[in-house]
Amino acid sequence: MSKPAVAVIVVAAGSGARLGHAESKAFVDLRGVPILERALNGVFDAVGPAQVVVVAPKAKLAAAKAIAARSAGAASGSVTVVAGGDTRQASVAAGLAALDPAVRIVLVHDAARALTPGALFDRVISAVGDGEVGVVPGLPVSDTIKRIDRSERVVATVDRRDLVHVQTPQGFPRDALVAAYAAATEEYTDDAALFQDAGGAVSIVTGEARAFKITTPWDLRRAENVLGVSAGIRTGVGVDVHAYDDSAPLWLGGVYWPDEPGLVGHSDGDAVIHAICDALLSAAGLGDMGSRFGTTDPRFAGAKSEVFLRETLALVTGAGYTVGNVAVQVIGEHPRLSPRRSEVETLLTALVGAPVSVSATTSDGLGFTGRGEGVAAIATTLLTR
Ligand code: CTP
Ligand code: MG
Repeated sequence: MSKPAVAVIVVAAGSGARLGHAESKAFVDLRGVPILERALNGVFDAVGPAQVVVVAPKAKLAAAKAIAARSAGAASGSVTVVAGGDTRQASVAAGLAALDPAVRIVLVHDAARALTPGALFDRVISAVGDGEVGVVPGLPVSDTIKRIDRSERVVATVDRRDLVHVQTPQGFPRDALVAAYAAATEEYTDDAALFQDAGGAVSIVTGEARAFKITTPWDLRRAENVLGVSAGIRTGVGVDVHAYDDSAPLWLGGVYWPDEPGLVGHSDGDAVIHAICDALLSAAGLGDMGSRFGTTDPRFAGAKSEVFLRETLALVTGAGYTVGNVAVQVIGEHPRLSPRRSEVETLLTALVGAPVSVSATTSDGLGFTGRGEGVAAIATTLLTR
């Protein structure tokens, strides 16, 4: 495969003093997902292959690698993680030093602009093109701007039609940016200023409101509100059906039911636990029991369904999820659940480690459950990250 001609350096090595969080800013949770991961998701949403260089605090390299691998998915081969420096500029320089030789266009992006959409990367990349000009996203200034003196007295009102406020990603021809960094002798607040001082020209493309920088606790609240409360929460659904088998013992909801016809199944036929497993896997985006455990796998022949539930929970928590709750409803003529409902709920709640509620209904004589041919169970769950 040919090496990508575009690289995106994501600087995430700052401490985030103004955010005032115990964790360094890029690793602070934003509705269930670290700020860095949200920023990288935007990068990977952009079209086309790119080398992605993540510049992280020295003490957080392992955590940054894990986040980058998760965000990159199949593209993880294109990600490099390096340690940053004491200033943003030093961190960008560390990223530039890690560029692949084939790279011709470099974008520099603040991880702190966590909600930047992929489309903005594409816009900047195509504006840089084969040219020599640096490209910066900018938006009009909506407030009236005043120039003040050192005693905070207003000297003048600045014509805001001449102003934009700029964002990242900022894009540059690679060789010119590397040369500008090598020549820089002072600290700049953005890459475009450094590039321009070295003689480069810079132009503006339209920025994105969502590309705002998370600097203060208020900005973090704003990002949370933009995402909405449902971000970081996932629902799942699972359905299981088994036919009655007079010769089998009945296991349902993890408990044994004496004097009841059992259920046919490759394992113990516990439709309640199977539905819960499918709901958990579905919420985590991990497929279903059939694809995870294989209904023909001899290891699971006659297995107690608790085994599946334990394995499922290991997969779900391994993927970074916490179970909020599970609700499951049994549809069938028998067994009558209500006398043992709290026993089943207590057992399943202990197994899952989160509230499990169990309810039951009949189908008014209709369908296979109404004819007494078998039971169905439907489970839903909420997972958080
Ligand atoms: N950055 C960096 N290395 C530094 C300083 C900053 O990689 N030594 C990165 C930050 O991680 C952030 C981006 O530059 O993604 C923009 O900087 P800023 O928002 O100022 O973040 P911090 O410097 O971490 O925050 P603060 O200035 O409040 O400490
Ligand atoms: Mg800073």
